[in-house]
Formats: sequence, structure tokens, C-alpha cells
Amino acid sequence: EPQRVIFSLIQPTGIPHLGNYLGALRRWKELQDEKTAPTKKRRRNNRLIFGLADLHSLTLKQDREVRRQNSRQTFASLLALGLDPNRSALFLQSQIQEHAELMWILSNVASTGYLSRMTQWKDKIGVGKDASMEQLDEKAREKLKLSLFSYPVLQAADILLYRPNFVPVGEDQLQHVEFTRQLARSFNSAYARDLKAPTFNLPEVMLSPAKRIMSLQQPEKKMSKSDPDVNSRILITDAPDEIRNKIRKAKTDSVEGPLTYDPEKRPGVSNLIEILKHVTRSSKSCEEITQELQDTTLGALKALVAEEIVKNLDGIKEKYDAIMAAGDKEIHSAMVLGTRVARAKAGNTMKHVREAVGL
Ligand code: ADP
Ligand code: NA
Repeated sequence: EPQRVIFSLIQPTGIPHLGNYLGALRRWKELQDEKTAPTKKRRRNNRLIFGLADLHSLTLKQDREVRRQNSRQTFASLLALGLDPNRSALFLQSQIQEHAELMWILSNVASTGYLSRMTQWKDKIGVGKDASMEQLDEKAREKLKLSLFSYPVLQAADILLYRPNFVPVGEDQLQHVEFTRQLARSFNSAYARDLKAPTFNLPEVMLSPAKRIMSLQQPEKKMSKSDPDVNSRILITDAPDEIRNKIRKAKTDSVEGPLTYDPEKRPGVSNLIEILKHVTRSSKSCEEITQELQDTTLGALKALVAEEIVKNLDGIKEKYDAIMAAGDKEIHSAMVLGTRVARAKAGNTMKHVREAVGL
């Protein structure tokens, strides 16, 4: 079985939510478990590297203690979800200096035209998706820091540094991985054409079936950690009653008659059905699930969804609390292991990169 290098990042914005879990983190754990599966048929030679993007977090103004505490919480959450530092390398991006170095080098093949078409910086400064750089007024330009604009270049460096075959992420990251592939191609053709092998391979997205879980309060938006409304998301450490409460309060509609699955016209109800499908790992389509639930009331659907989430997240909170209560011991020793693995890989890639560009 050839080795597959699998790499992904999460922002260290505290405890992850259900969207992070269904869209990415649950997959990370499954990939880890494939390494030690009891039968040969299911076992795979995965090399897993998962980072916390704390350099990216600098684009957010934050008190230093809050930033540190958020990183700790995210790290503890990964351990609580069952990521095992002996099987998955877990580390902080800021501990590996090569991220920033590779970002600078890649900046030389990153087109500002491409970057200006990307949507994330527009979201962050609150202008429309179709806004262009030229149209921005003075105030918007002041808000648009260079780091926010070049964020995808750092993200590309994060990924390419580990030369992964696969990047397991949610749908919101597709655009960034596509940009990463573009930079890898540009770099290879600018600097590595005459070398025995291209410096970078083109990583592929591993998209989870739960591509996009929506906010419980504004179901036309994705569930996100940056949403100020805490009722918009379920955290993986929420207690059963908190989960039940948030689902009960989830925004739906007042359409009469049987349940229907229609993400356009009934985003709230459809999101609940979507969540139900993914927490139960159902192989049925959302339409089939809805068909079976036809005579269920909205209240009963909510109760069912809440119970399935409670079951799915069972035990995570206890583990999380124990890790946090133990001070930094467990987090620190996991980080030492992960940083060692990441540093070795990153150093190796940078040797090739420096050689290719002539540094
Ligand atoms: P957030 O967008 O909440 O700040 P991150 O950017 O740290 O979270 O994302 C971590 C992972 O979770 C990424 O792979 C991302 O694609 C995935 N993800 C984030 N939000 C969702 C969502 N609502 N549905 C599915 N996956 C998501
Ligand atoms: Na995101």
C-alpha cells in the first residue's frame, strides 16, 4: 500500500462547531483509524498531518490572552475527538517557520488578479462578492490589510509545505485548494522545469459528504465560528440540554403540510434534514429521508435531530473537560510530537524549494 500524505488545517478559533465536525474533523479521525484498522482490507498507509492555523488568526484583532486560550481550546478539542498524537501529527503553524518563508517565495508566482477575484477578503471587509479592487473606497482599502488579501497564499504555503496527496476540507475551502494547485503548477513551470522532478505535486481535495452545514439561525449562511450569535451553531462540547435547546430554537418556516426537502425555499428545515442524514451516516438521500418522515411534525423532527446529535457527540465534552483540567500537560506533549514530524517534512520540502529557486 503506497503512502498517502493527508494534510489539513483548522483555524484556532476555540471549540469547533458541528459544521467543522461533520465537514472535516470527523473525517480526520476516520482517516486516522484506517491506519490501525483490524483488517488488512480496511487498513491504509495514511500519513496524517493536521495543523492549527494560528498565523492566519492574526488577521483577526484579538487580545493576546484570548488568542492563546482559543488555540488551547482548539487543540484540546482535537484530542477530545480522538485524534491520537502518535497517529496524527498535531501542531501549531506558528511553530514551523517554513510556512512564512514558503509564503514569501510563492508570492512571486501568485497573481494579484486571481487573488482579487477570491471571495474571502470581500466577506471579511463586508463588500459584495462582485466587488473589485478598483471600486473600493478609501475606507474599504484601509480595512483590507495585505494579510487579508494574501491569506490564500499563506494557505497554499501551508498545504504545499507538506506535499500532501489529499486535503480533507469542507466546500468553503474548494476555492483555496484550487488556488493552491494553480500556484504549485506556476511554481513548477517557473522554477522546476529543468529539474528531475517537479517540486510540488498537485494536492486533491477530499470533500466530505457534509459539504456545507448551515447556520441554525440564518440558514442561508454557513454555520461558522465567526457568527456572533451563539445559537447559530452547536459546539462539539455542548451538553445534551444545550443541544436540544439550540435545535428547538432553530429557525424554520411556517409552511403547512408535510415536510419537504427544498434548500432554496425551505433552508431551515432542509438543513435539519441534512444534519440528520450526516450525523446518522445515512446512505439515503435527503429526499428519501424526508419521504420517510413525511408525517412527522416539525417539533418531532427537531427532537429526533437533537437526539441523534447528542448520541453522536457523546463523551466528547467529558474528554475535553479532563484535558483542559489537566493544565497544559497533555496538549504540550502532543504538540512536541506533532511539531517534530511537521518540522522534518517542512524542512525537507524547503530544501527542494530553495534549490529550485537558487537560494
Ligand atoms: P470556520 O469557517 O467555522 O471558521 P475553519 O475555517 O477553521 O472554520 O474550518 C475548518 C474546517 O471545517 C474546514 O475544512 C472547513 O471547510 C470546514 N467547515 C467550516 N464550516 C463548515 C460548515 N458550515 N459546513 C461544513 N464544513 C465546514
Ligand atoms: Na472556513
